[in-house]
Amino acid sequence: MNILWDSDPSAIERYRFALGADTQALDSSGMVARAIHDNAQVEQVIIGSDVPLTEACQLAEAARLDRPELGVILLRTRVDVTALSQALRAGVREVVSADDHTAIAEALRRSRDLTSRLIGHASGGQIRDGRVVTIFSAKGGVGKTTLSTNTAVHLAHSGLRTLLIDLDLSFGDVAISLQLVPTQSVFDAVSMSGHLDEEALKGITVVHEESGLHVLCAPNDPGDADRIPVPTVTEIIKVARRHYDYVVVDTPPSFTEHVLAAVDISDALVLIATLDIPAVKNLRVAIDTLDMIGSPRDARIIVLNRADAKVGLRPEDVESAIKAKIAVNIPNSLTVPASVNRGIPIVLDEPKAPVATSIKTLVDTHIRVGAAEEETNGHNGSSAPAAAPARKSLFSRGRK
Ligand SMILES: Nc1ncnc2c1ncn2[C@@H]1O[C@H](COP(=O)(O)OP(=O)(O)OP(=O)(O)O)[C@@H](O)[C@H]1O
Ligand SMILES: [Mg+2]
Repeated sequence: MNILWDSDPSAIERYRFALGADTQALDSSGMVARAIHDNAQVEQVIIGSDVPLTEACQLAEAARLDRPELGVILLRTRVDVTALSQALRAGVREVVSADDHTAIAEALRRSRDLTSRLIGHASGGQIRDGRVVTIFSAKGGVGKTTLSTNTAVHLAHSGLRTLLIDLDLSFGDVAISLQLVPTQSVFDAVSMSGHLDEEALKGITVVHEESGLHVLCAPNDPGDADRIPVPTVTEIIKVARRHYDYVVVDTPPSFTEHVLAAVDISDALVLIATLDIPAVKNLRVAIDTLDMIGSPRDARIIVLNRADAKVGLRPEDVESAIKAKIAVNIPNSLTVPASVNRGIPIVLDEPKAPVATSIKTLVDTHIRVGAAEEETNGHNGSSAPAAAPARKSLFSRGRK
């Protein structure tokens, strides 16, 4: 169906011939955004000539990331070059003279064709997103990087298209853990903000040859962290989830704005505890913070790292302190620092070691939702995971 966004209530009658009967008229950007979010049947948005260009461009830009199959057509009383180029840059498919009803009908037909092809191109005729998994702990040194590198490497090694993003922007050590040379980094996305696409993203990732994992490294210069706008991080993840089956995000040990942006867009949030009082206290505070910002509880996966350390605190004590169940216990083992020093993730270096098997259990049982279906469908990494949950949309912000 089509939506005509125009503040003039009589516009729908004026354009009836050009737009057809399956068109609903709405008069505000909020209502249009809501309709796009709530109704998957909405495939074309025609923006009337009285809607300011900036508002029209904002909608087109948001839709380009969240619903790339959605066609946006802009009607203008006068089509000047500046408006035309600004609109096309924002992702508007066509700019048409508001008086030329034949041209409007033709633009709509072309846009519908493109939408059908885009939908048909996506797996099973339905646009699906990859799964975003953020690994977080409010305390340093508990194993976030160990877990995120091994999780991502295991996913990639299983044939799933996986991107690991190092969001520990000042002190990230994903690159060094995987022995990668970070020629490009998250910082290189800044100049492409607003125009990031698959090619641009691939151009700034580094490939971990042993597993096929793609890595978006943290900047070499810690000072660059402050120069990375939060919306750039959101855009990176949104573009990435369209082109990868899994996007794994490593984080610094605090709720920075960048981390909150990643959490907001994540399908799963792995929270790490260890058997020491400060780590448990920090996890409790992190959980309270997540509750406060409305982050969904069922997306959380609690992992106890170094779970067998004999330090007087038991896993049950942690569970009762944080009032949540531990999903997976990862043992303490010298094989972990040894593998880091060799630059080979433990899931590849010693796949049968208890640490590696527990990380693989975490991935296969708790992160790879729908793994069984992926196998049944003969999944070979060429499409998004079968059971990727419904996409959370930019249009849904504040409406959860
Ligand atoms: N299960 C484990 N057994 C033994 N050592 C471990 C285990 N998990 C992590 N380590 C070691 O603990 C140290 C910290 O791990 P890691 O760098 O993954 O933590 P982090 O949470 O990312 O730290 P930071 O907050 O500084 O980024 C590393 O030396 C790592 O090898
Ligand atoms: Mg780390």
